[in-house]
Amino acid sequence: MDRDDLASVLAGAWQLLVRGGADRKSPLHTPVVASVDGDGRPQARVMVLRKADPVAATLRFHTDARSPKVAQIDGKPLTILGYHPGEQVQLRICGTGRVAMDGETVDGIWAASTLFARRCYLAENAPGSPLPGPGSGLPAWIEGQQPTAEQIGPARPNFATVWLAVDSIDWLHLANSGHRRALFRQADGWAGQWLAP
Ligand SMILES: Cc1cc2nc3c(=O)[nH]c(=O)nc-3n(C[C@H](O)[C@H](O)[C@H](O)COP(=O)(O)O)c2cc1C
Repeated sequence: MDRDDLASVLAGAWQLLVRGGADRKSPLHTPVVASVDGDGRPQARVMVLRKADPVAATLRFHTDARSPKVAQIDGKPLTILGYHPGEQVQLRICGTGRVAMDGETVDGIWAASTLFARRCYLAENAPGSPLPGPGSGLPAWIEGQQPTAEQIGPARPNFATVWLAVDSIDWLHLANSGHRRALFRQADGWAGQWLAP
């Protein structure tokens, strides 16, 4: 990859994101997703990047439909922040969030998830609800066990997909030989602009 060529940098950034979505060992598999809550406060949390699509310019995450972040995401501005230490690349990605809970695409994603992954959505109370003591929030009958396909059915309404329609990517590369920074914006047709790091 040519780090002094904008088109190559953009392609490289998407390559890192695609890998982040597909490879659990990639540091970009668990970026920070930042939103703004109803009081105007920034809220940031780690989320698993499930898929990056360079053609559609989207990122996909999964969450519990009952979690407070859902209200902070749908139709709202989001920033995704990741750092790849091996590549010494920071990616700061901005766009608009969308929450999808129903439809064929979401049903397909749900069906393709492992039963263990789907088990979290059996939690009895919304994420962030107070508990009387330490606990996973899962019903006792499923603790430490993989649910069956029948047992997981009632969890489906709690599953939500989060999509980010990317409208800018800020790429920062650290190097002793000279840092580099570039901003790519959909509004400019993704042409890119070098910035002072
Ligand atoms: C490594 C890691 C991965 C996580 N992945 C997710 C995820 O994919 N989806 C999610 O909703 N929360 C995930 N979480 C939990 C969130 O960081 C957060 O604690 C939780 O979703 C509550 O966020 P909220 O109160 O802003 O809704 C993850 C946490 C860690 C440490």
